[in-house]
Amino acid sequence: MSKYYVTTPIYYPSGKFHIGTAYTTVLADFLKRYKVLQGYDSFMLTGNDEHGQKIEDKAKECNLSPKEYVDLQASKAKELWAKMKIDYNKFIRTTDEYHIEAVQKIFERFLRQGDIYKGEYEGWYCKPCESYFTETQLVDGKCPDCGREVTKMKEEAYFFNMKKYADKLLKYYDEHPDFIVPEYRKQEMINNFIKPGLEDLCVTRTSFSWGIKVLSDPKHVIYVWLDALTNYLTALGYLSSDDSLFKKYWPADVHLVGKDIARFHLIYWPIFLMALDLPLPKTIFVHNWFMMKDGKMSKSKGNVIYPDQLIDRYGLDATKYFLLRELPLSQDGLFSPEGFVERYNYDLCNDLSNLLNRTVSMVNKYFDGYVPEYIGTPNEVDLELEKASLDVITNFTTLVSKFDIANAIQSIWNYVARTNKYIDETAPWILAKNEEDTEKLKSCIYHLIANLREIAILINPFMSETSENMLRQLGISENITWNSLKEYKDIKNVKVIEKGEPIFMRLNSEEEIKYIKDLMGK
Ligand code: MSP
Repeated sequence: MSKYYVTTPIYYPSGKFHIGTAYTTVLADFLKRYKVLQGYDSFMLTGNDEHGQKIEDKAKECNLSPKEYVDLQASKAKELWAKMKIDYNKFIRTTDEYHIEAVQKIFERFLRQGDIYKGEYEGWYCKPCESYFTETQLVDGKCPDCGREVTKMKEEAYFFNMKKYADKLLKYYDEHPDFIVPEYRKQEMINNFIKPGLEDLCVTRTSFSWGIKVLSDPKHVIYVWLDALTNYLTALGYLSSDDSLFKKYWPADVHLVGKDIARFHLIYWPIFLMALDLPLPKTIFVHNWFMMKDGKMSKSKGNVIYPDQLIDRYGLDATKYFLLRELPLSQDGLFSPEGFVERYNYDLCNDLSNLLNRTVSMVNKYFDGYVPEYIGTPNEVDLELEKASLDVITNFTTLVSKFDIANAIQSIWNYVARTNKYIDETAPWILAKNEEDTEKLKSCIYHLIANLREIAILINPFMSETSENMLRQLGISENITWNSLKEYKDIKNVKVIEKGEPIFMRLNSEEEIKYIKDLMGK
């Protein structure tokens, strides 16, 4: 059985997850479920990134010890993922003992190999990003990553010799076109960081203590990014007494990361792996951000929306649908109350829910609920629909393989629209009036059911509850897999439920837009 290993970044436990931060996890969950349906032995990793000065400060603010603080945040994160039915296999915490031991061993190995050396660091430090920058890296004298103030600091520190690996990294990029998706992120790395000359990376701190100590020099704490990135290995038991998961799943098939942490994953991480003599992940997918009309989501702006707020009112599937559908590959996505309500009313209610409802009621009305079997001589309109039923599978799978998730989902909704159009084209209510059209009517109803079954399978990885609900209403009780999609013409002995239930009810736009706007102010 082929394996599939997908990871989210591990999160800073700095507060509640908003829809932007939850996005990566929703995406990872979708990819995992999709691969499981295709028969892959899949493993999804997520977790929390619990060390560093920021956490130490946060804990102090809350009058807790750092450990108490991260414990609390980890249980909150797990609660949210449970509510969102995220099907992860492991939740790693960088304070886990096995992780700490492995990171210490990795550090000592780098020292032994001469990849890490001791020196003195003087530079511009951005506290929120926990990163040092050189004068030339600053943008208008501020942090190039977050735009905040930086301060000049000096300390004895260890450095990782990045320069040594620069050419090897460029060669790797060149020889592995699928390593970085989308492609333009690779160009950004080359132009902004590698071509101007890679700086050696300062990989220890002495200014705070909440971190993993260097074994051979314990007044130094290991830089959070060296600590955090290795989680993708240590979670699988790398350098522990049981590394069977590591042997099975490494290298990762895909690391999913937001654009702000691209540099760490596209430059430092591959270099660390090269220094460890390990194969590199097959793909690192860098996604864009969810923005609000007035820019970044932030508490101070009062424009934050949390996934649990949307789930409580509109359900999990509508929330996941919106998130995956609205973040394009090439630019940031926009969350707006109007956009959310519109998608709900048009895509989910008008297009999908009505299609199911109309079909179920027609099967009941014309055939007492029994779905007619496939007729071997489809007419021209049926054939066109059958072609669309094959095209949607190809389009969806191709787009997902390119991580163009928004368009992949759009391709399913084009198919929903095509199926709705088919009802208008065939006008079953007219066919039902003439006995000589019975065969045509049977064929029409069969195709509608087959399309709905197919749609239920296609949406299963991201709208599982809706998918199951649809199949139940259609009277289809098989255990679906991706292969079930091939059985378009094989539906037999199926009886739909007697009275269809709308899967999505139309929302009152004005009221709901106001409701969401009020949430955002909270
Ligand atoms: N701890 C690091 C990651 C270490 S991975 C070895 C970190 N954590 S984070 O909590 O700050 O961010 C987690 C993820 O959320 C990142 O991928 C980040 O890009 C993503 N997002 C934060 N805000 C976002 C949006 N508004 N929209 C989409 N993704 C967003 O970085």
